[in-house]
Amino acid sequence: MNNNSPIGIFDSGIGGMTVAKMIQKRLPNESMIYFGDTAHLPYGDKSPSTIRHYAARITAWLIEHKVKAVVIACNTASSHAFETVRDICGPNIPVINVIDPVVKHVAENFTTGKIGVIGTKGTIESKVYPRRLKKANSKLQVLSQSTPLLAPMIEEGFFNNTISRSVINSYLSKKTFNELQGLILGCTHYPLIQREIKEYYANDVRVIDSAKVVAEACAKVLEEHQLLCSANAKAEYKFYVSDYTESFKRSTKIFFKKSTDLLEARIWD
Ligand code: DGL
Repeated sequence: MNNNSPIGIFDSGIGGMTVAKMIQKRLPNESMIYFGDTAHLPYGDKSPSTIRHYAARITAWLIEHKVKAVVIACNTASSHAFETVRDICGPNIPVINVIDPVVKHVAENFTTGKIGVIGTKGTIESKVYPRRLKKANSKLQVLSQSTPLLAPMIEEGFFNNTISRSVINSYLSKKTFNELQGLILGCTHYPLIQREIKEYYANDVRVIDSAKVVAEACAKVLEEHQLLCSANAKAEYKFYVSDYTESFKRSTKIFFKKSTDLLEARIWD
């Protein structure tokens, strides 16, 4: 492992690509190795111990592939398995989760008011966002709602159509979500329906997409650990899934147009 080694990124499926894409934008010379655990998708309705088991195996696999840092590009895994992943990585491989950078960003950018959080059942039931947000800024009122249909819907390619609009509408029209100042997209799949969410609110609510904030945090962590790649490094991207499907291959092309060689890694056999 050296400074030109790849950053390891994982999620249950396509969602983490929203983070990978932003890391590519922010750090264009960095190489990445992406793992989508499509054999176990969705993560959102699995128990915390199952998520920890999945995250541990994927982390070990990423380390075997000589990654220099690990980005848990999944809120559900960040909620349940951050410590597990950190323990496996040890002191020399920094781990970035998708929750802490967003909490910091919201606490700094909203002084008071009502903040909504949407995410998978696992993330919302862990209460990680209200706990950490209240700790960072006690004046914020945090309201959370699980939106379990959204990740599978996005994974199936349903966005920007009447079905996705109607599902989004039914979740966001709940009374508790009235008069929000900001809405955290607490699942890395949701930036793919960000436009529809903004349209629902007629741009009245600030929608917080973690991908950009996490990419910034990743740059900072690499810098602090003196792990940034050399200025003339040529980025290489490798994409793996635990269960190959043509539909996933098509989805990866939304993000990384030409350079998407999608391979299957049967790490669970
Ligand atoms: N993208 C993931 C998250 O941020 C997981 C979605 C799922 O697999 O349920 O939580």
